[in-house]
Amino acid sequence: MPRAAFEPLAQEIRALKQSLNAVILAHNYQVPEIQDVADFVGDSLGLAQHAARTDAEVIVFCGVHFMAETAKILNPEKIVVLPDKDAGCSLEESCPADQLAALQSTNPNFWTIAYINCSAAVKALCDVIVTSGNAEKIVRAAPADKDLLFVPDENLGAWVMEQTGRPMTLWQGNCYAHVEFRRESLLQLRRQFPEAKVVVHPESLREVRDLADAVCSTERMITYCKASPALQFVIVTESGIIHRMQKECPGKEFICAPTFDVMRAPTDHCRCSECKFMKLNTLEKVRDCMKRLGPRVELPPEILRRARLPLERMLEISAR
Ligand code: 13P
Ligand code: SF4
Repeated sequence: MPRAAFEPLAQEIRALKQSLNAVILAHNYQVPEIQDVADFVGDSLGLAQHAARTDAEVIVFCGVHFMAETAKILNPEKIVVLPDKDAGCSLEESCPADQLAALQSTNPNFWTIAYINCSAAVKALCDVIVTSGNAEKIVRAAPADKDLLFVPDENLGAWVMEQTGRPMTLWQGNCYAHVEFRRESLLQLRRQFPEAKVVVHPESLREVRDLADAVCSTERMITYCKASPALQFVIVTESGIIHRMQKECPGKEFICAPTFDVMRAPTDHCRCSECKFMKLNTLEKVRDCMKRLGPRVELPPEILRRARLPLERMLEISAR
């Protein structure tokens, strides 16, 4: 749809924002029309930092459920709404709190590090939270006498182990969207665009990370593309990020890595990677959740209290 077609809805949303004293936070993977109406667009770390310091009374969180929960944990007294309550995450699903508690009980010396892509109940069981933007720094700062348990992303965990040399027990979860990227498809793109820099999200498989010029969070991907003298970039993450890259890096070209295996399905055409959960949100649903003040994130007080500690520890270490 042409951008102008969204203008009436966007105007309605801006008016609601004023009357509710609301702030709209959007993840880099949201559709362009949501990004364009948001007050802040960023990665999980930037969104958590923004949520921690907002003085708005209502937070409209355009991302997935665990992100809206994070905003609620940091703002228990505020109203947090999200456009679609079914916007989940395969990583969050892979790690139920009772299974984590069972594993923790096998080793009293475990120090649990949770990637922010997990439920509030899992956060409440952990010592510290990380995002892809600060995981390396936080693991380096972890107590030396503890056995580290990293949940729920085995790929991000493996990448952090490679960077830090610190052994960790890894939970066997993954991002269903990022593990679709394959080495052969990427090698083909590199042959096609030999000048292009390859920028990869650490939720990807090692065979893909090993081909990267840079492995980083979505926000750092944008910083990297801005700073690099290169003019072409192969982007190995969810395609929603291309919108900001095109806006913030005029004159540069961004090529979405395909999520099919060219060796196994050579005639398939490019299906750029989309997270089906992130793409549940629409501008219409943003308007509706503001009008209804729902769906709303509500969490038990005990979970709110316990999950806040590891999140605050993350924000504190990140700021050092
Ligand atoms: P970041 O934007 O924090 O890099 O995370 C990517 C992601 O998959 C969020 O769900
Ligand atoms: Fe979860 Fe992957 Fe979607 Fe991010 S892209 S929300 S990690 S399923």
